Amino acid sequence: MNPEIKSPSAVRREIPLVDLVSQYRNLREELLPALEHVLESGNFILGDEVALFEEEFARYCGVEHAIGVASGTEALHLALHALGIGPGDEVITAANTFIATAFAISYTGAMPVFVDVREDDFNIDVNLLEQALTPRTKAIIPVHLYGQPADIDAITRFANAHGLKVVEDACQAHGARSNDQPVGSFGHAGCFSFYPGKNLGAYGDGGAIVTNDTELAAKLRLLRQYGQSEKYIHAMVGYNSRLDTLQAAILRTKLKHLEGWNEKRREAAGLYHEFLAVSRAVLPREQPNARHVYHLYVIQHERRDALRAELLAKGIQCGIHYPVPLHLQAPYREARTIPQGAPVTTRLAQRILSLPIYPEISRVQVKRIAQAVKNLD
Ligand SMILES: Cc1ncc(COP(=O)(O)O)c(C=O)c1O
Repeated sequence: MNPEIKSPSAVRREIPLVDLVSQYRNLREELLPALEHVLESGNFILGDEVALFEEEFARYCGVEHAIGVASGTEALHLALHALGIGPGDEVITAANTFIATAFAISYTGAMPVFVDVREDDFNIDVNLLEQALTPRTKAIIPVHLYGQPADIDAITRFANAHGLKVVEDACQAHGARSNDQPVGSFGHAGCFSFYPGKNLGAYGDGGAIVTNDTELAAKLRLLRQYGQSEKYIHAMVGYNSRLDTLQAAILRTKLKHLEGWNEKRREAAGLYHEFLAVSRAVLPREQPNARHVYHLYVIQHERRDALRAELLAKGIQCGIHYPVPLHLQAPYREARTIPQGAPVTTRLAQRILSLPIYPEISRVQVKRIAQAVKNLD
C-alpha cells in the first residue's frame, strides 16, 4: 500500500482542532436552499439577506443595530474610525490577542498600548489600566479572548471615568455573556468576526459591528460602502467593506444553531475539566458571572512543546494562540507595554496550548485527548 495514502482507520483516528466539514454535513439540507435563494435572486451585494441577518444578529446581541462588514479586522477598524480615533491618539488593548486587534488601531493612525493580561483568564488586567493612561488615550479595546468575557464592568467604569470610547473585540466570543448580558453590547461598539472557524463562521470572510448608537450605525453604513449616501453620491471617504450577500444567507442559517453549538462547546469543556482534573495541565478558569463560550480550550503546561509533539504524533491537532506576543512582532517592537515587556503574556506564550474543541467533538474524542495529555504527566 502506498504509505502516502492513510488507511481509513488512521484517518478516523485524526482529531482536528476544528471540524467544519462535520458541521457542514449536519447543516447541508438547510444551507443549500439558502444559497440557492441568493443565487436565483441575482443580488450579491447587500440587499435583503444582509439586512435580515443584521436585524437577527442585533437581536441576538441585545442591541439596536448591527452593520455587516468584510471581516472582524474591518469591523474594528471602521468602528475606531467612526468614533473619531486617528493620528496622535493612543488606544489601550490587551497584549495577548490576535494581531488584527492592533492592526485596526494602526490603520487609523493611532498607536496601540499593550496592557498585560491575567494569568487565570488570559484577559486584560484591569488593575493595570491606570498606568496605561496618558493625555493621548482615546479608547480601549477589551478583547473577550478565547470566548470568555473580559472584566467588562470594570473596563466600562474606567472608560467612563476617563472619557474613553470602548470598542469590544468580540471576534472570538459570539454568544458569551457577562452578568447575563451579551458581549458586544457593553461598549460604544462591539466587533465580531465570521471567519470560518469562529463560533459563528461564514464560508469566507465576514464581520459585523453592533451598537446602540443610531448615529454611529448610520456612519458605519456609509463607511462600509464608499461613503455613499445614495448611488454615486459620496458624503465622505469610505471603504469597500461589505458583508457578502451569500455569506449573510449562510450566517442567517447558522445563527439559529449558535446557542445550541455554544452549549455543546461548554459541555466539551466540562468533559475536559472532568478528565483533566488530576493532571499537570493548568485548566482554563471561568470567571464568576461570565458565560464562556469556549471558542478555544486553552490549557497551560510546563512542557508545552513536548506535549504538543506528543499530541501531534497521536493524530491530535492542537494550536498556540498566540506563540509570539504582539510587542515582540516586527511592527510593534517600539510599542509601549504595561508593565514593561508584558511579562504574563510573554510567559504564557511559552506555556499555552489550544486543544481541539467544536460542537461535534465526542466524549470519546475528548477522553482520548485528555489521556494523551496525561501521558506526559
Ligand atoms: C481577537 C480577534 N480579533 C480580530 C480578529 C480579526 O477577524 P478577521 O479574521 O475576521 O479579520 C480575530 C480573528 O481572526 C480575532 O480572533
